[in-house]
Amino acid sequence: MAQPEYVIDEMISAKSIAARIEAMAKEIRASFKGTDKLIIVGLLRGSFVFIADLVRELDLPVEVDFLEASSYGDGMESSREVRILKDLRGEIGGRDVLLVEDIVDTGFTLKHVTELLNTRKPRRLETIALLDKPSRREVDIKATWTGFEIPDEFVVGYGIDYAQRNRNLPHIGKVRFTGG
Ligand code: PRP
Repeated sequence: MAQPEYVIDEMISAKSIAARIEAMAKEIRASFKGTDKLIIVGLLRGSFVFIADLVRELDLPVEVDFLEASSYGDGMESSREVRILKDLRGEIGGRDVLLVEDIVDTGFTLKHVTELLNTRKPRRLETIALLDKPSRREVDIKATWTGFEIPDEFVVGYGIDYAQRNRNLPHIGKVRFTGG
């Protein structure tokens, strides 16, 4: 099926993202000071750019692991069913864990994944999301750290896709459908 035509308007610049990550990393470093090892869990695929920049700002002993969950497929609406497509390689029992999300929308993904990780009894589990769309929330959940609260716009870039494209944009852009 052909994709509708669209243009992408810049919403959050690469510079603003970098500054916000630096500020959040400072808080995270202070919060986890003294940890023997922080396990950073990236939620694939959308968080891969964010996690790469975030870990380089964290001057802490870290390990990185990934989990893949999917609720959207290639569509624009949440299916409300969160599937675990790829599980962690390592154990998190008794460890300090920071779960990294690109965006919290309905909240189903973050809720489902935090519940799953909590069954494995980490010592501490915190969450960080680069973007949050509070107006879309359907379940009561909020990340410990949020980069930017945004309105209900269709966003892409910095890891986030539209039908698997545009993940490589260095900034967050807003999709504007042009018709045709
Ligand atoms: C997107 C996004 C979040 C989730 C947020 O993932 O990366 O993980 O949806 O939506 P929710 O709060 O409504 O659950 P998607 O399923 O599109 O997979 P992707 O990260 O591989 O693009």
